[in-house]
Amino acid sequence: MLQVQENVDIKDYCTIHIGGQFRYFAIIKTKEEITEAIEFARKNNTRLFMLGGGSNIVFTDKVLDVLALKIEIEGFEIIENTDDYAVIKVGAGENWDIFVSRTVVSNLSGLEALSAIPGTVGATPVQNVGAYGQEVKDTIVSIEVFDIQNKVIKTLTNTECKFAYRDSIFKHEDKNKYIILTVTFKLSKKNPEIPHYIDVKKYFIQNNINTPTLLEIRNAIIHIRGYKLPDPKVIFNVGSFFKNPIVSSDVAKKLKNNNPELTIYPIDEDHTKVPAGWLIEKAGLKGKNFGPLSLYNKNALVLVNNGNATYEDIISVRDQIIKTVFDKFGITLEQEPEIIK
Ligand code: EPU
Repeated sequence: MLQVQENVDIKDYCTIHIGGQFRYFAIIKTKEEITEAIEFARKNNTRLFMLGGGSNIVFTDKVLDVLALKIEIEGFEIIENTDDYAVIKVGAGENWDIFVSRTVVSNLSGLEALSAIPGTVGATPVQNVGAYGQEVKDTIVSIEVFDIQNKVIKTLTNTECKFAYRDSIFKHEDKNKYIILTVTFKLSKKNPEIPHYIDVKKYFIQNNINTPTLLEIRNAIIHIRGYKLPDPKVIFNVGSFFKNPIVSSDVAKKLKNNNPELTIYPIDEDHTKVPAGWLIEKAGLKGKNFGPLSLYNKNALVLVNNGNATYEDIISVRDQIIKTVFDKFGITLEQEPEIIK
């Protein structure tokens, strides 16, 4: 039975701890409750809003006239198991990192570099979560969704999700159209490879490990992230606040020539990704205190709510950072978390 609460504080449901209230709020554990929620929203003339772990989202300080649904659909089902791989169907509400640790102890590779990322399984395809060379798109086979308008369950293939860097159909044409119910992953039983990332390679050299196990890779990632990314339970943040901008390869090459220490990531012949954290640091903003917010002193990509920041504060500080970086490099940063007004 759907239990609907009224005027629920948003702050408690987003890791940057900013926001007003949800007009209505309910926890969804079953597919049946989704049908009840749709009916409730229709009767009360409001719309549905799907909430995951709240670790990549920024809200306004207003009362949002929505029925917010906290998806807590559980499930972990091995649907195929061969000598080379396993296919696992996971409930959207499962905690992402607990799921990743389960795959690692089962010796299944493909998600180990995505260790220690906050949030839920169902939220990961929305922005195609990625870290240390792995993206969820590389292992997702399909996604089971509830089509809100047509009230039917559909299965979307990986291709249909149109995954790209921090992107998918769930952020664009099909925004608010579906509720993600389960995600199916295909994970490999082959020996894992060390992620091609300087920080990770350095970690294994320092620890004298040549052919790490999956668990050793997971532990390395947890160690590296622990230094660069503050625990959102202690320091309010949403991870990277900006995307790494994709610029023309000519612009990236010039930047690299002038700054040999810079790591750039070619995407194709014409496009190259440059690290936003580096641009912000070089623009002199790393660790800068803007009053209610500051840029984390160990990672310029992370915007921290010092305690009482408002939505207005976050937008004003975001725009100051974008302007400072643009004035120095002529590159426009784009925010990474979704903004809900
Ligand atoms: N850098 C700086 N100064 C900084 C931060 C970074 O110079 O303050 C430089 C680093 O030295 C490095 C480069 O920027 O040469 C890239 O840094 P890093 O490898 O730490 O990764 P990132 O680009 O800062 C991205 C993702 C992270 C993900 C890491 C690891 C984006 C927007 N962010 O960060 O994802 O964990 O790579 O793969 O793509 C997130 O999405 O919330 C997130 C944390």
